[in-house]
Amino acid sequence: MKNLKIETENLESYVSDDEIGRLQGEVSRIHETLEAGKTKGSDFLGWLHLPSSITNDTINEINKRADEMRETCDAFISIGIGGSYLGAKAAIEFANHTFNNQLKRKRGNAPEIYFAGQNISSDYLADLFDIIDEKDICLNVISKSGTTTEPAIAFRLLKEKVESRYGKEGAKKRIVATTDSSRGALKKLADEEGYKTFVIPDNVGGRYSVLTPVGLLPIAVAGIDIGELVSGALEAEKSSVDASLENNLAYRYAAIRNILYGKGKSIEILSSFHPSLHFVAEWWKQLAGESEGKDGKGIFPAAVDFTSDLHSMGQWIQEGNRIIFETFMTVERSKRQLNIPKVTDDLDGLNYIAGKNLDFVNDKAHRGTAMAHRDGGVPNMTLTLKDRSPETLGQLFYFFERAVAMTGYLMDVNPFDQPGVEFYKKNMFSLLGK
Ligand code: PA5
Repeated sequence: MKNLKIETENLESYVSDDEIGRLQGEVSRIHETLEAGKTKGSDFLGWLHLPSSITNDTINEINKRADEMRETCDAFISIGIGGSYLGAKAAIEFANHTFNNQLKRKRGNAPEIYFAGQNISSDYLADLFDIIDEKDICLNVISKSGTTTEPAIAFRLLKEKVESRYGKEGAKKRIVATTDSSRGALKKLADEEGYKTFVIPDNVGGRYSVLTPVGLLPIAVAGIDIGELVSGALEAEKSSVDASLENNLAYRYAAIRNILYGKGKSIEILSSFHPSLHFVAEWWKQLAGESEGKDGKGIFPAAVDFTSDLHSMGQWIQEGNRIIFETFMTVERSKRQLNIPKVTDDLDGLNYIAGKNLDFVNDKAHRGTAMAHRDGGVPNMTLTLKDRSPETLGQLFYFFERAVAMTGYLMDVNPFDQPGVEFYKKNMFSLLGK
């Protein structure tokens, strides 16, 4: 994967090349059964060759609808939770301006992007209503099952708002539903109301759905090149056909994770050095957590934002319970460069790095942290992304999907179900008197 690389020197005393090599047989066997569709959860392998199956027609259709919404709306609200939310949120935060919604001039004709239905907070929605009050709005309600409570509540409220503002007919032009091709309450409602719909393929689970219209439509509305995103993922798909742990970066990462897990390192911390990676880590948490955490097994996926969290969680990571390993995630080159100015009085003592750019300092913070954590008993590796382009992000999404699937199989769990998610719902429905 040409835009991603992993450095492993801080694993040296924890994971040897021999140990990795010993997993090759198992990894190759899993790879073959995965490609042949003969694994646990084989009904949900649509993500595996999704990038190569997305046609230009699909991209064009999504872009066309996105353009229409960009023309009509000042604010676009994506309604969904879990896999129907995190991929788009991750991509938009990763590729766009940090303060995109406030930045009218650079945003061109792209609307402000908001998310709803990812919680049941009255204040969140009421505050969102304040923001969108004077704006022309469009909705994209996303739910594979079509029955998830959180987005259903948000949609009920937002639909009412759109209808009261634009009338039933006007609302039809401003609401798009992304859901199952034939089943579920949302599909039924969308058909009855005459909304434009996009289909989530049956064989792609929520957390693997970012490269379906679930993620692609909101990402396109935000002005990100979805063709480039998919072509990045395609490059990663192609480079994953080789199961060799020497060449397959995703499988190598999966093998390392499994070896560390076998040595009692049951928590992986994904430590990012750029705020733009925060929601990539949130997306990864769902992917890894729901895929691996079952049957009493699984690496607990945690995430921190550095350097901010070095001033809060840094202490725990350095000297707390030694059940953690760490994957640093960083970007080789920021989109824009800022240099530290030289000042005559040098009261803050920073003149020794005057003239250096912030990427340089951030890199040294990362290297220093990685060494300190290694010396403190935290095995760690670094995943470096070349840049913040959609192409790199496409590779990253696919890389994690492959790696998490392989990790799950190495643990002998089905990476594509999530039976545990139902338990809270059962209790909540009973408490609600459903
Ligand atoms: O990974 C999953 O399948 C789930 O976490 C879903 O993404 C989440 O529950 C949202 O489901 P739905 O799209 O059916 O509303």
